[in-house]
Amino acid sequence: TSNQMWGGRFAAGPDAIMEAINASIGFDKRMAAQDIAGSRAHAAMLAATGIVSDSDANAMREGLLTVLSEIEGGTFEFSTALEDIHMNVEARLKDIIGEPAGRLHTGRSRNDQVATDFKLWVRDQLDAVAAALEALIRALLTQAEAGADWVMPGFTHLQVAQPVTWGHHMMAYVEMFGRDLSRIRDARARMNECPLGAAALAGTSFPIDREMTARDLGFDRPSANSLDAVSDRDFALEFLAAASISAMHLSRMAEELVIWSSAQFRFVMLSDRFSTGSSIMPQKKNPDAAELIRAKVGRIFGANVALMMVMKGLPLAYSKDMQEDKEQVFDAADNLMLALAAMEGMVKDMAANRPSLEVAAASGFSTATDLADWLVRVLDMPFRDAHHVTGSLVAMAEAKGCDLPDLSLEDMQSVHGEISVSVYDVLGVHNSVASRQSYGGTAPVRVREQIARWKERLG
Ligand code: ARG
Repeated sequence: TSNQMWGGRFAAGPDAIMEAINASIGFDKRMAAQDIAGSRAHAAMLAATGIVSDSDANAMREGLLTVLSEIEGGTFEFSTALEDIHMNVEARLKDIIGEPAGRLHTGRSRNDQVATDFKLWVRDQLDAVAAALEALIRALLTQAEAGADWVMPGFTHLQVAQPVTWGHHMMAYVEMFGRDLSRIRDARARMNECPLGAAALAGTSFPIDREMTARDLGFDRPSANSLDAVSDRDFALEFLAAASISAMHLSRMAEELVIWSSAQFRFVMLSDRFSTGSSIMPQKKNPDAAELIRAKVGRIFGANVALMMVMKGLPLAYSKDMQEDKEQVFDAADNLMLALAAMEGMVKDMAANRPSLEVAAASGFSTATDLADWLVRVLDMPFRDAHHVTGSLVAMAEAKGCDLPDLSLEDMQSVHGEISVSVYDVLGVHNSVASRQSYGGTAPVRVREQIARWKERLG
């Protein structure tokens, strides 16, 4: 039998393979709530503009609620023959209310309907991601506050560079996830135009009120060009791009947690709740959650690239290619949410190992720059000369197998006669971090300012 929605034109039904490649109901049923919200707004508008009667619109609106409760209650029977969520809902509405259901599709098309549903879905997801980012930022702030003055090594090239504070390192991630949050908010503001009423591509001859449906659905305004409205998937791509950048940040933090929790580093203890054991090695505690977060970035980037490739070169307006948008976005959204929640859990639970951090902070001649700065400040040496003198002192310490503060004053003076005992003040890691008070620097006083600023910003 031919399709009940377009049977007039068709004598035969689709081949089974046609049905399989064509159907999207297997995944777009996730937009059921958005589809029904869109249809209810459309029905109310059709009545307000006199396009359908009030009683028909009321029947549609009530019937749609029944459909929603059937879907939410798990009793709804989705049909692949009905292709997608839009036609599944409409067909069921017809079973329930009869003839008025056939008037719901007046002045709209599945093309503006799917764009509207998907935008509503992505918009909800942006809000969920924003909330998850905020929760992660709060967890990082708690860690930063606890350890605003704990010292640890800062690295470049994964080689010890200069001491920093634990709080400063946590706040670096707060800045990253904070930018992610602002990207999500920017994307939300830009996408918040309603495609409904663009109809198939050209608009409609019915006197619809697009302001009304836009307002009802929480959009700022209707989209201005009907061709663009049904062709646009920028909102999905912007979500995927923002999700990719955020996943990249998560992967960097996850990588640090993998390194930090190793026996060689012992910077942090991850909780049992966010670790796994080994089926053979009884001693093992593995940072699997961190590793999976590190990996999730792959599929999220993949989704972004995949949808870019789907959209690339598509002529206006709607093409069925665009149905390939949803699975990518759903998968990326699910995995980003999971990764954010897992990272929040790990950050909340993890215990920094303060003594190891402190020992490591002093390793690798980490205060060599402080020594060079002292030579500049106290002896008025040009920085380049100070760099050279300090380099000689590091070489001497390395030869003796000790750290810079372990060199005697005589040793130091053998390299440069004017070095005095006050140099030892700057060789300690606590003095080192406390001295870095430039704006944005690692000094605890600056870190506490950053924390206070972020707390105020989050409210
Ligand atoms: N299932 C379709 C999608 O997800 C809905 C729009 C179909 N429109 C069309 N003209 N075939 O994109």
